[in-house]
Amino acid sequence: MSKQLIITSALPYANGPLHFGHLLEHVQTDIWVRTNKLLKKECIYLCASDAHGTPIMMKAESENVKPEELVKNFTKEHEKTLKGFFINHDNYYTTHSEENKKYSELIFLRSKENKLIKKQTIEQFYDESKGLFLADRYVQGTCPSCGAKEQYGDNCEKCGTKYEATELINPVSIFSGKPPSLKESEHFFFDLSKQEKKVLKWVNKTDLQSGVKNKLSEWFEEGLRPWDISRDEPYFGFSIPDNPKKYFYVWLDAPIGYIAILENYLTKNSSTQNTEDLWNESEIYHFIGKDIMNFHTLFWPALLDGSNFRKPSNVFVHGFMTLNGQKMSKSKGNFLLIDDYLKILNPDYMRYFLASKLSNGIDDLDLNLLDFQKKVNTDLVGKFINIASRSQGFLKEFNNVLSSEIDENLLSEFSAKQKEILNLYIDRKYSRAIKEIMTLADIANQYIDSNKPWILNKDPANKNKVHSIASTAINLFRILNLYLEPVIPETSEKIKKYLKCVDSISDVSNYMKDWEIDSFKPLITRIEDDEITTLMEVSKNG
Ligand code: 2FM
Ligand code: ZN
Repeated sequence: MSKQLIITSALPYANGPLHFGHLLEHVQTDIWVRTNKLLKKECIYLCASDAHGTPIMMKAESENVKPEELVKNFTKEHEKTLKGFFINHDNYYTTHSEENKKYSELIFLRSKENKLIKKQTIEQFYDESKGLFLADRYVQGTCPSCGAKEQYGDNCEKCGTKYEATELINPVSIFSGKPPSLKESEHFFFDLSKQEKKVLKWVNKTDLQSGVKNKLSEWFEEGLRPWDISRDEPYFGFSIPDNPKKYFYVWLDAPIGYIAILENYLTKNSSTQNTEDLWNESEIYHFIGKDIMNFHTLFWPALLDGSNFRKPSNVFVHGFMTLNGQKMSKSKGNFLLIDDYLKILNPDYMRYFLASKLSNGIDDLDLNLLDFQKKVNTDLVGKFINIASRSQGFLKEFNNVLSSEIDENLLSEFSAKQKEILNLYIDRKYSRAIKEIMTLADIANQYIDSNKPWILNKDPANKNKVHSIASTAINLFRILNLYLEPVIPETSEKIKKYLKCVDSISDVSNYMKDWEIDSFKPLITRIEDDEITTLMEVSKNG
């Protein structure tokens, strides 16, 4: 029996609404999951909100709510938004859970038994008035290299120099505006250097993208250093066993959340299966953005190995999203929330656009709103839906019953593409899959153009011929719809209802002959200029 697939998207932080970067990743994952499910693979698609850490604690404080409350609300909101885009998670949970506490402790204790945890005292900036150790991003000062003011404690946005927070000139805490003091604290470290060989072995045998391998070789060349996995109180997270004032760093418990979400999924489904066994017997695939590659391709496999859990089968990395050619930035008036998009346009349009741009590389992807409009209007409406809308009229006099005489040669040309298109989806070459499908849509339209049924129809003697042409076109349309199903699930479902078919991509070669279809209703409509203008306005207001 083939293995179960556990598939994840990165867990969005529960301290703000979702943006297009999140959507890109969820659409990429969802298309992959849907394709695997169509191939009858057993898949569990997991996600959750990433609930812990200082930013969430501070956000809750500023909103005068408990972090638990903040997390609960954002988790609900995120799940609803992603459902709005037909992202079909099998479980959407949170990392602030009993299950995650249990696995975080378990993995920590096993790593300790395996002599991978050590303690070390470090010196860090401390905000006396807040009683808070300051992570680099909470300290600002003058860049020691170029003198730019108000730079954060890790690198200068002006000149790009990387430095230690303690090198900043005139550092201040962003919370109190006061100069921080230096304070010592004992931290727990996961000794990544001891796992170097094992991680390297995993990297070498895993089919990682070339951009990912390149980045990894840079890191291996620098050498892996012990990783600080603890934070001092106050912190929103799980306290470390026997150390009530110390907490697991959010980046320790976040990926462990993947296992915890699985356990919660099993409980919700009243399964008696053991979580750890299922994890270890499955293939595991993580979809992530390139900014969190180190956590998933170094720390995570090292942690899993050190606690006797199965390591990922692969980690699929995507690039960032830009909006109209620019970095998305709220303050610069170039920002779009996906909830705002949902209020204006059909989610399948955006899924289609993203798929038409996605490759299996780690390049960035631009959402140009005019390109988006053009792509949807030209491809989905102008080419794809057009095949049905220009053919259906000829079927009325046959009571919408398709002919038994259809062009099977042409149809088999279309159905023969099934394997190639499925493989492109499985290889995450979605833009290539869309290109192939649109080439077929062109061929279908050319078939109608060259047969000119609207001219033939003028002579009653051609009745059967016209019936056959329109019936062939509707059959071609059905095949294309099955090819597009992982990308535009809601539209595909509507089309299936119109065609009175319940089949899937594995049935592409079953043609509809003497088959009654529904009367035609407009399936999707063009994106109008004013809808794009509204989106542009919303993005300017951030
Ligand atoms: O970068 C982020 O948005 C993180 N919240 C992703 C976590 S993924 C996993 F490790 F939990
Ligand atoms: Zn500088």
